[in-house]
Amino acid sequence: MAESVKILGIAGSLRKASWNRGALRAAQKLCPEGAKIEVFELDGIPAFNQDEEKSPPHNVAELKQRVRAADAILFVTPEYNYGMPGVLKNAIDWASRPYGDNAWDAKPVALMSAAMSMGGGVRAQYQLRQAFVFLNMDAVVQPEVAIGNGMQRFDEQGNLTDETSKKLIAQLLKNLVEKVRLVKPRMRATA
Ligand SMILES: Cc1cc2nc3c(=O)[nH]c(=O)nc-3n(C[C@H](O)[C@H](O)[C@H](O)COP(=O)(O)O)c2cc1C
Repeated sequence: MAESVKILGIAGSLRKASWNRGALRAAQKLCPEGAKIEVFELDGIPAFNQDEEKSPPHNVAELKQRVRAADAILFVTPEYNYGMPGVLKNAIDWASRPYGDNAWDAKPVALMSAAMSMGGGVRAQYQLRQAFVFLNMDAVVQPEVAIGNGMQRFDEQGNLTDETSKKLIAQLLKNLVEKVRLVKPRMRATA
């Protein structure tokens, strides 16, 4: 029997009714058979300090361990001032260090965003995709899931209500799982 694909989901917002955390919850429900998304919350991750990179705080060590244990990563990011939020960049920086101990290395990764503007966070996505190059992450590029006009697509608790976005998320996850199965043949579903 094929092994289940473990995806680690990380949202770049700490807000209780966050649209991005809501999109991640929706992704958990839309995950294809044979795959599962577990969430790592970024609350409490301290500001990066290179003096501590060799013996990081316990929650950073846990983040690195969870990233390593995952078969793939799903980032869900807001757009802050045309870029990714500091909390997300900070977590990425921690887990990429020290030099030679980059937990993100070679990980299949997919990316989604939700924002107030019509663009849905595409500028934050481009910034994140640039980081994937240096981190040596293996990114799924299609479909682009950028949920714009967030006010119309999420309810007051931050739950995703938009059916088109849900279809795109389901397709993105399908593509991510296929990528994992390409690089890890033991995870291929048996016919
Ligand atoms: C500091 C800050 C900067 C923002 N900059 C942008 C921006 O550049 N583009 C945009 O579409 N929305 C921007 N917004 C609005 C966010 O899209 C909106 O607050 C969204 O709800 C944040 O995601 P969340 O719901 O997951 O917390 C900004 C919000 C904050 C707090």
